Amino acid sequence: MEWRALVLVLASAAFCMGFGAAVPEQSLREAARASGFLIGTAVRPWALSEAAYASTLAREFNMLEPEDALKWEVVHPEPQSFDFSQADQIVDFATRHGMKVRGHTLVWHRQNPPWLTEGKYTSGELAEILEKHIKTVVGHYRGKVFAWDVVNEAFDELHPGELRSTIWRDQPGIGLAENGSSYIERCFRWTHEADPQALLFYNEAEAETMNPKSDAIYAMVRDFRQRGVPIDGVGFEMHIAHLHADVASIAANINRFTALGVQVHITEMDVALPVDAEGNARAGDLQRQADIYRQIASACVSHPGCTATQTWGFTDKYSWIGSHSKQTEGAALPFDRNYRAKPAYDALRGALEQVRSR
Ligand code: G3I
Repeated sequence: MEWRALVLVLASAAFCMGFGAAVPEQSLREAARASGFLIGTAVRPWALSEAAYASTLAREFNMLEPEDALKWEVVHPEPQSFDFSQADQIVDFATRHGMKVRGHTLVWHRQNPPWLTEGKYTSGELAEILEKHIKTVVGHYRGKVFAWDVVNEAFDELHPGELRSTIWRDQPGIGLAENGSSYIERCFRWTHEADPQALLFYNEAEAETMNPKSDAIYAMVRDFRQRGVPIDGVGFEMHIAHLHADVASIAANINRFTALGVQVHITEMDVALPVDAEGNARAGDLQRQADIYRQIASACVSHPGCTATQTWGFTDKYSWIGSHSKQTEGAALPFDRNYRAKPAYDALRGALEQVRSR
């Protein structure tokens, strides 16, 4: 029998046995569509010219976020000049493919240009520089970026309930450091003036669970809400290491923040694995990674106030984990380096399919 005829016979047999009734597999984006849930990823502009990168991105996600292209060192390289070329490429891609854009980030202590960090500005000058930066960048993307990480990682790692010492807060700061989070408040107000329609988020690392850092952020957000400071959401980054995630605590944390009337977005999820010299992870670890993706996406999806889950990149080919761990960790994302879906991908999709019933 010719091979094509053999395939036909086998396929017909499978159909008669019920296999043919299987629902065709859908992308993450399709799985999230019915409820309007947002499934996003961080994007590097120069990778958009790679066909597999671009097609996977457009097929699987309905939201994206520039990974580095909106940070000061890229977008504001000189005091008087802004360079939107990288971020514009990403935003144009999103527009062409019907994707929403999160903006990341307006105020951070890292990836700032030397003219800023070494400029020896006074508080007053720094406040002017920051207001101009926020209003120029947010104004450029008004109506195109639906949500901004206004302030990123302002709380300290070593003293988790306390604000970090940064150029913005107290070195020299923008003039309000003695009043706790009031410098952050000022940034939210400037952003709101620049685009009253945009949703404004505070984004943080290691505040996903109930812990001293998330307690401090909770107190700040509650205060902002009570006093009418324009804040709409909190981003929990969700960079998971050592295959450990306290999902019950994450769910409880999502609950308490949404009870304040703000949305929660999971903004930077990845699950780092130990890898060999070729970058390969162990099969058992890939399964455990998938479980973590499933549990965390489910914790978000099953809560109406948790409206987006985003991964920090989508292919293991392009991820910050490798370079930042000297290549001892990696394989953290739902697609491998050849854009093949990993167990984590199926797990994410399974969780997203729950949103239909929300
Ligand atoms: O731009 C320079 C380039 O000129 C130079 O040739 C190259 C050589 O290494 O470095 C380039 O800078 C890199 C930059 O990303 C842009 O690609 C830096 O070395 C690299 O350290 C930097 O890493 C970024 C990191 O933030 C910096 O802190 C990662 O890509 C980015 O994924 C990561 O993202 C952060 C979030 O913004 C906030 N939350 C944590 C998350 C992970 O650290």
